[in-house]
Amino acid sequence: MIRSALMNVMTAAALKAGRGLKRDFGEVENLQVSIKGPGDFVSAADKKSEKTLFEELSKARPGYGFVLEESGIVEGSDKSHVWYIDPLDGTTNFLHGLPIFAISIGLAREGQLVAGLVYNPATDDMFVAEKGQGAWGNSHRLRVAARRNMADALIGCGAPHIGKIKEHPRFQAEFAAVTAKVVNIRRLGAAAIDLCYVASGRYDGFWERGLQSWDMAAGVHIIREAGGYVTDADGGTDMLTKGSICAGNEFVQQHLLDLIRSA
Ligand code: IPD
Ligand code: CA
Ligand code: CA
Repeated sequence: MIRSALMNVMTAAALKAGRGLKRDFGEVENLQVSIKGPGDFVSAADKKSEKTLFEELSKARPGYGFVLEESGIVEGSDKSHVWYIDPLDGTTNFLHGLPIFAISIGLAREGQLVAGLVYNPATDDMFVAEKGQGAWGNSHRLRVAARRNMADALIGCGAPHIGKIKEHPRFQAEFAAVTAKVVNIRRLGAAAIDLCYVASGRYDGFWERGLQSWDMAAGVHIIREAGGYVTDADGGTDMLTKGSICAGNEFVQQHLLDLIRSA
């Protein structure tokens, strides 16, 4: 595990916000059968989680800036540090009672990612990484999978939702191209967790378009510290600004990138 002051701060904030999300997730099941559904309740849970993370991280590291999913950009007096926060990644899963959701916290220093944490309060899975200290999942060191053969590779992806109709044809073409070459495909619905599954070797690779910086910052850093390779869908390193990602070990990442670019 990583025993640093920074990781203690990040872990404490995630555990505190996670306690609230876990309680609220229990309530969601009761609201499932109401006509209105749990929509408003989930949106309140999301905002509450963000407020807790913002307060805890601001208290421990005054002046750092924030990129928050719900509240947007908060400029800090310390221009060299920025937190990227998704207070609830996997909202649709949470809403439907599926225990695949997470808090995601990434930290950049001088524009470079230096720390990441992804925590699923439903399963108590905690993934962390800090620059030069490796990636860890529940106190086990993480390494990306070693497979080189695409026919053996299990690949994760993200699919555009109903509102992103213009994105559907490209996704369908990429999905068809990848499906033809790999052992199978998974779509879990929480990008932050997907990226940690690449870092832990559960997936051999992952790709998605239409993401935001807060979905990816922590996971990208965790994959890199686990020895993995990450690019945007054009093969560059502008994942956080372009919103696309392709990840895996050195071999799978390159093959997967070739497949989606030629789709
Ligand atoms: C979403 C999840 C999902 C991905 C979407 C994201 P949210 O985040 O990560 O897996 O496919 O693009 O927006 O809305 O649940 O925080
Ligand atoms: Ca998200
Ligand atoms: Ca979210």
